Amino acid sequence: MPEPGFSFGAPTPHGPLRTFHPRRAPLGPARRDALERLWPELGLSVHDAASRDGALDRRALFGRDAPLVVEIGSGMGEAVAAMAAADPGRDYLAVEAHLPGIANLLLRLEAAGIGNVRVAHGDALELLRRCVPEASLDAVHVFFPDPWPKARHHKRRIIAPEHVALLRSRLVPGGVLHCATDWLPYAEVMLEVLGADPGLENPYGGFAPRPAHRPVTHFEQRGLDLGHEVRDVVVRRTTR
Ligand SMILES: C[S@@+](CC[C@H](N)C(=O)[O-])C[C@H]1O[C@@H](n2cnc3c(N)ncnc32)[C@H](O)[C@@H]1O
Repeated sequence: MPEPGFSFGAPTPHGPLRTFHPRRAPLGPARRDALERLWPELGLSVHDAASRDGALDRRALFGRDAPLVVEIGSGMGEAVAAMAAADPGRDYLAVEAHLPGIANLLLRLEAAGIGNVRVAHGDALELLRRCVPEASLDAVHVFFPDPWPKARHHKRRIIAPEHVALLRSRLVPGGVLHCATDWLPYAEVMLEVLGADPGLENPYGGFAPRPAHRPVTHFEQRGLDLGHEVRDVVVRRTTR
């Protein structure tokens, strides 16, 4: 929750369905300072962008018109920072509902001098729906989304048919949707849901081999330490 005095706006008001857990965590002085210094240049409030109801001005945001990758639920920002640093020809927009993660990513970007990442605070699905035009994204990354293991919560999963239709519609033809999870039942659902979308194709015909360019995050490592197996699912928007 933004603190008084910051100008990154309130989190998006949510409807009944939210794909993330509401959390309140203290920011601490380093993260608060990072937000104060870096947010004006690198940050975007989903709430503010959605209330303007227009498409994101990518040139204003990144200073160029490079292919754009969106990461939904970037957590502490480890994956997006490493992948963007290794991929300077594309721009990355990290969207996260949890403010300390946003601040952490800002610190990471500053420390590593990474220039092709911007951070959005709020609900990524809202941002895609209201501010990202159809057929405009080179890739969407969804790494270790909350698994919502209880059956009554399954409708909150990001990889569910209606959310997938939204994600697919924002991809350019040939654009990639890359998901990873350490929750095997969810991995199976990902394969099934993504396989059932008529506008997506799976070049691997099943789970993808772990790509070397996706780094292990703390979250993933915690799953591995618990003996969880990790699966990647990589699909492409078909050309029609
Ligand atoms: C389990 S964590 C994984 C974080 C990170 N991807 C990683 O691998 O370390 C899932 C994250 O997704 C975020 N999240 C879930 N749904 C979201 C949404 N609709 N918009 C923005 N963030 C979301 C949560 O706040 C949480 O930080």
